[in-house]
Order: sequence, then structure tokens, then C-alpha cells
Amino acid sequence: MADELSTFSAAFLPAVESEMRAVLRADGATAVPADPFYGMIHYHMGWADEGLQPAGGDSGKRIRPILCLLACAAAGGDWRQAVPAAAAIEILHNFSLVHDDIEDDSPTRRGRRTVWTLWGQPQAINTGDAMFALAHLALGRLADRGVPPDTVVRALRRFDETSVALTRGQHADMTFETRAAVNVEEYVAMITGKTAVLVALCAELGALVAGADDAQVDHFAAFGLNLGLAFQVQDDILGIWGDEGVTGKSAATDITTRKKTLPVLYALERNEELRALYEASTQDDGMFVRRVVTLLDETGARPYAVERATDYSDEALAHLAAARPVQPGATALQQLTDMLLRRDF
Ligand code: IPE
Ligand code: IPE
Ligand code: MG
Ligand code: MG
Repeated sequence: MADELSTFSAAFLPAVESEMRAVLRADGATAVPADPFYGMIHYHMGWADEGLQPAGGDSGKRIRPILCLLACAAAGGDWRQAVPAAAAIEILHNFSLVHDDIEDDSPTRRGRRTVWTLWGQPQAINTGDAMFALAHLALGRLADRGVPPDTVVRALRRFDETSVALTRGQHADMTFETRAAVNVEEYVAMITGKTAVLVALCAELGALVAGADDAQVDHFAAFGLNLGLAFQVQDDILGIWGDEGVTGKSAATDITTRKKTLPVLYALERNEELRALYEASTQDDGMFVRRVVTLLDETGARPYAVERATDYSDEALAHLAAARPVQPGATALQQLTDMLLRRDF
């Protein structure tokens, strides 16, 4: 990781982790050993093993809280004040993953079994519900850090609006599975909802807590939105060509569940055999997946998607420049943008 970014991350991550542990009852003061309710949350967060005993698992990249706190610093604020917002967004993100893994029939997440495969779908739904409410409680803690009440209320409203947009994006993603054709415009609207609005919220709330003016907050939000779009296109690429051992997610599921990811919809428009495979077949074995990947490669779907991700990333950087960020947060945000575009994890 580049210098400024790694220096900030080293300070941010313990602060966010301890804030989330306090809210999710996993810190020394509130932890209930092997609590069957909070334990499932702790398992998902990477703090407990399958037997709900404390353990260090893969907690994910934590890019959303890092982005939120960096935006606060780059907008001239004290990042410590934004820690509750960073924690709330990361909890909301993790809630969405618990439900997403049910919705997508995904057996693995971060190289571990998903909550629903261990405890069943009804309990996993309930775990996600609790995390959704806990995310709100986490955001309310902004008030304990001297953030003005009207800023807290504005943050809560944006948090809820974003949650609605996110679930709407998930709705579109699922309806696309059974639709033969989806165009790029519909796809962009879908990923804007399921992924980009939450990444946008990170930058927006960071700037808001810093006391930035409306124009600056808007540029930070637009920076986050385009970063989120680039991030999701890259996730689509990794969902097909990524290494399972590195991403921690099974590589074939996007194909077997007929996800209309960007490379797939690009190739569907151009290749009849692929259309026939996706429309007619209920086949989801290894041979099917290999044939689909071959056809995607033949149509040039991968370089097309890489180009689109690069365009979004460039657009993000243009908004970042317009937000007139201060150093050293500004450089760290550029490094984060660059790292996310080139990630293989
Ligand atoms: C996964 O997000 C869901 C998407 C929006 C692609 P991340 O790739 O940020 O997941 P973790 O938190 O690092 O595991
Ligand atoms: C990401 O969904 C968006 C949300 C979870 C809200 P995906 O289904 O595209 O992400 P992965 O590939 O499972 O992480
Ligand atoms: Mg999904
Ligand atoms: Mg998924």
C-alpha cells in the first residue's frame, strides 16, 4: 500500500474496529462469551469462529470506513469525529452482505462459509436485520463526538435514503437474473444502487462531519459515486476472472446464477451462442462455466470492462480535484482510487 494511505489506514483501522466492537457488543466491557445472537454477527465480522469463540478471521478490506475517514481529513476535518459514521457504514455494508449471500446463493465470503450456510436462512435474515438496526445506533454516536445535532440528523437522513437506494439496486440485480437482455444504462442504474451510493455516502459523510460547504460535499459524494462504479465493475471482472483464493468468493456463482454483470451483458449483445446458453439452459456445471468464460474472452468483454472501470476512476479523480482536498489526505485518496482500480482481491 502506498505511503500516505498506509499511514492513515494504520491509525484508522483500530479506531473503527474498536467503535464497531463497542456497538456490536464485542469489546471487553460488553462481550457475552459465545452469545448465540451477537455471536453470529461476530462470526460474520471476522471476530469469532464457527463455534462462536473469539478468533481472528478475514474481516474484509474495510475500504468504506477508510474512505469516510480520509474524506473527513481531506475536507479539513478531524477524522476522529467521523469514526461513528465510518463504523455505521461498515456495519451497514456487512448487513447487506449477510442478506446478499442468501439472495445470491453464495456459499463463501472472505474465504469462510457464509452465515446462512452455517445457521440457515431464517437465522441469517434475522442476523442481518439486527445489524441494520445496529448500524443506525452506530451513526447516532456521532453526537457523542461533538458533531452538531443538525449534522447528525442530516447524516441519518442520508443514511436511510442510501439504504433504500441500496435495496432497490439489489432488487434490480435479482430481477436481471431472469431477464434475457439488460442494457448498459439499466446495468449502471443497478450498480449505482447496490454499490456506488454506499461508497458515495462514505465520502459525503466524511466531508459533512468535517464541516465542508455544500458544493464541496457534493464533489466528495460524486467522487465516491464514481469510485463505487469503478469498484463494482472491477468486482464484476474479478467475479469471472478472479482467483478464488485471493477474492475469498467462489468464482463461478455470478455465471451460474446468470448475473448480468458488465462483461456478460456486453458479450450477450454480441454472441449468439452465449445468448442461447443463458436463455435455454439450466445447466450450471463446470463445463457450462468454462464455455461461458471462453465466449466472454472471445468477444473482448474483459478489456471492455477494464476500460469502463478506468473511465469511472478518472471521473472520480476529476471530482476529487474539484473538491479541493487538503494534504496529506488528498494524496491518500488518490492512492486509494488507484489501488481499487488495480485490485485483484
Ligand atoms: C463486496 O464489497 C460487495 C460489493 C459491493 C462488490 P467489498 O469487496 O468491499 O467486500 P469486503 O468488505 O472487502 O469483503
Ligand atoms: C454487492 O453485491 C452489493 C451488496 C451486497 C449490497 P454482489 O452480489 O455484486 O457482491 P459480491 O460479489 O457477492 O460480494
Ligand atoms: Mg448480489
Ligand atoms: Mg453477491
